[in-house]
Amino acid sequence: MSSAIVADHLGKTYPKSRPGKYALDDLSLEIPTGRIYGLIGRNGAGKTTFVRIAATQLAPTQGTVYVLGYDVRNEERQIRTRIACVPQESRPLYFLNSEEVIYLYLKLRGLDPRDAHRRTMDAMEELSLLDIRKTLVSRLSGGLRRRLLCAMVLASDADVMFLDEPTTGLDPLARREVWQAIRRASRENRTIVLTTHYLDEAEALSARLALIESGRLRLEGAPADLRNRVQYPFRVTIQGSYPRDELATYGKVSEIEGGWLLFTREQEADEVAKRALERGLRISMGPVSLEDIFLDVVGRSIDEETEAEEPENGAPGAKA
Ligand SMILES: Nc1ncnc2c1ncn2[C@@H]1O[C@H](COP(=O)(O)OP(=O)(O)O)[C@@H](O)[C@H]1O
Ligand SMILES: [Mg+2]
Repeated sequence: MSSAIVADHLGKTYPKSRPGKYALDDLSLEIPTGRIYGLIGRNGAGKTTFVRIAATQLAPTQGTVYVLGYDVRNEERQIRTRIACVPQESRPLYFLNSEEVIYLYLKLRGLDPRDAHRRTMDAMEELSLLDIRKTLVSRLSGGLRRRLLCAMVLASDADVMFLDEPTTGLDPLARREVWQAIRRASRENRTIVLTTHYLDEAEALSARLALIESGRLRLEGAPADLRNRVQYPFRVTIQGSYPRDELATYGKVSEIEGGWLLFTREQEADEVAKRALERGLRISMGPVSLEDIFLDVVGRSIDEETEAEEPENGAPGAKA
């Protein structure tokens, strides 16, 4: 399988950040062609920095990224014509209406007018945007604008598409539509880099995913394989009283409302379940979730905010 994107010992420090602070730190990974690749991590993990470097909006401090075989350090032009990216600080042209934004974007990318029109309509239908076809972009709510930009990227003929948190703030229905559109583009052999802090989304869509924390790659693989990488791939919850010390011999125990949560191995999970049932307690068990894995690897949940971070973005378009 070929790789659309190869990050090679990528490092990034922002000019004004404190000395020794790396937004990306020796990050190496390979993103296979024609698949959906999820980048997950808490706020400030480095996801957007990675996307901006791969999309040639920001220069790396160390290492490099190859996109479709081209080096972001000196082959930006070749890369830019082959990728599409929803910029995080996106300012679409406010004096255009929704349809025009997509259509002109596709025309600029070199599609002929008929093709551009057809793709515009298809994408607007796919994301339920036909009602706002003629609405000025400046009049759209934040959520609609986000969907419009997703439609724009997903309608393009780019080989590599970057979607940075495309569903943040969308309602569940709109989210599902974006998922469908992403899947459709992937079936057309596009490579899609999706950053998200919704773990269900990452798990549902990604062929592979990378967990980034503090600029470092902490875990990488197909979602189903990640479970085999953690020490305790099973979770058991027990409702009622059970001696904690005994549970602790099986794995990692924590207290939950009305009982215990135990992370353990498969065989031990069976054994504990049996014992708990003998005591007449209620149990549930199953493989760990991506949420559990995240907590285990990072030590904090994906939504937990920590100390105040520096601003998300520098000057728009600045090449730091
Ligand atoms: N323009 C910038 N100047 C200084 N620091 C920045 C800038 N942009 C991001 N950072 C810092 O780099 C780190 C990674 O940020 P970012 O890539 O935006 O993470 P994510 O997208 O995962 O939330 C954070 O510590 C953030 O504060
Ligand atoms: Mg981000």
